[in-house]
Amino acid sequence: MKIAIGGKGGVGKTTVCAVWAQLFAEEGFDVLAIDADSNVNLALAFGIPSEKNPVPLISMKELIAERTGTDKDAVGSYFRLNPRVSDLPEKYWVEIGLSGHKNSAGSNRGGKLRLLVLGAITQAGSGCACPEGAFLKALLAHTILQRREVVLVDMAAGVEFMGRASVQGIDALVLVVEPGGRSIDTVNNLSRMARELGIRTVGAIANKVTEAVQVSVIENQLENIMLLSTVQYSRSVQEADLKRAPVIGVGGGLIEQLRLAKERLVSHIS
Ligand SMILES: Nc1ncnc2c1ncn2[C@@H]1O[C@H](COP(=O)(O)OP(=O)(O)OP(=O)(O)O)[C@@H](O)[C@H]1O
Ligand SMILES: [Mg+2]
Repeated sequence: MKIAIGGKGGVGKTTVCAVWAQLFAEEGFDVLAIDADSNVNLALAFGIPSEKNPVPLISMKELIAERTGTDKDAVGSYFRLNPRVSDLPEKYWVEIGLSGHKNSAGSNRGGKLRLLVLGAITQAGSGCACPEGAFLKALLAHTILQRREVVLVDMAAGVEFMGRASVQGIDALVLVVEPGGRSIDTVNNLSRMARELGIRTVGAIANKVTEAVQVSVIENQLENIMLLSTVQYSRSVQEADLKRAPVIGVGGGLIEQLRLAKERLVSHIS
């Protein structure tokens, strides 16, 4: 199963991605969580301290040059559009421990949870025709089309940076939306774009809700997107972030609502 998570800045994409990654792994799935945001911070949501934050692959200039063939003849703008990347996930992912988190059957037998930090191209128009763009597209295509794990992609912006092949390998786009017009508009735009590119399943999670009426306002404005669940605004989520503690540890309503959202999505896809 391959799921991309999007939405406006700050709505809770990384939070959802980290919690879902843990929940899938607790159920016994091997999970590859991919940080594809330019402002990489998925590691933090897993409770990895900043000094141990993996270096994003997008900033590994020598590796990108070697794989795209731009190191030897610097004569110009030629580079490989399909660089070899299949060996890279194993080399650069970090293992996230599940210790202390029992699955619903009460056992500690979980799948493997790994984090691969890609990063993203920061310049506007993320479909960059440059070696970095080709490298990122190749890595996403490899992880989405060829790997067997559950893959969760924490995205920065739209899905177009992925390239057509990866987009078509995505089973679902999950859009996180908070009570706010700009967030709702972003989600509708992303959803339209995703459907044009061929993603059939688009779901939404309403996050940071403080009053029930906000949910109906959101629901009324979502265009053809199924609302998977509603997550209340919770101070303990914010506190976990401030303490740099793993978000899965906050427990309570956030985890239960996200579990519900995940189950609804999975049953819709399968
Ligand atoms: N339900 C919630 N209640 C309270 N705070 C929340 C909730 N969900 C997320 N947050 C907080 O909101 C902030 C943004 O969340 P997060 O980083 O997950 O969003 P994001 O969409 O990935 O942001 P960015 O666009 O910067 O990558 C964090 O401080 C997070 O702890
Ligand atoms: Mg984020």
